Amino acid sequence: MEDAPAVWVANAADLDEEGSRLHLQVKDRYITLLRHKNFLYCFDSVCFHAGGPLGVGDIEEVANHACIKCPWHNYLITLETGEKLYQGVQMKDGKMVPGKWQSVGQKQRTHVVVERADGIFVQLKQDGKVESDEYAFKRECAQMMIASGSTGKY
Ligand code: FES
Repeated sequence: MEDAPAVWVANAADLDEEGSRLHLQVKDRYITLLRHKNFLYCFDSVCFHAGGPLGVGDIEEVANHACIKCPWHNYLITLETGEKLYQGVQMKDGKMVPGKWQSVGQKQRTHVVVERADGIFVQLKQDGKVESDEYAFKRECAQMMIASGSTGKY
């Protein structure tokens, strides 16, 4: 499926502070916009794993990747690509110790976000299949995001 046309979702002032977030419904899909280190990210709000409230998770830097940590099972998802990261283990001096961080690939869909003088625009990515598609439209899963400040439907 082709990507949807970009739609206006917010004024620049709505997301100008570090750490600011908006949880929105665009074309019935629940998405989260988040500013981290002066960059705006956009991704499916509901976690691909079991429908958890990923969009309200804490942000952590892991192996030089900005990640959001799902509050339900602590999965780490990169903000930029929606990849799930995990830390391998290795043997050192006969003991198992934490190893390198690795990716299992994209699990959470990310979307294109553009900041312009006339506002912030989102273009939903719809190509192929990403696991988070399964939960992306489920209102019951998005309730925590809605309660924390959804601003409307576009
Ligand atoms: S629902 Fe399990 S990690 Fe998000």
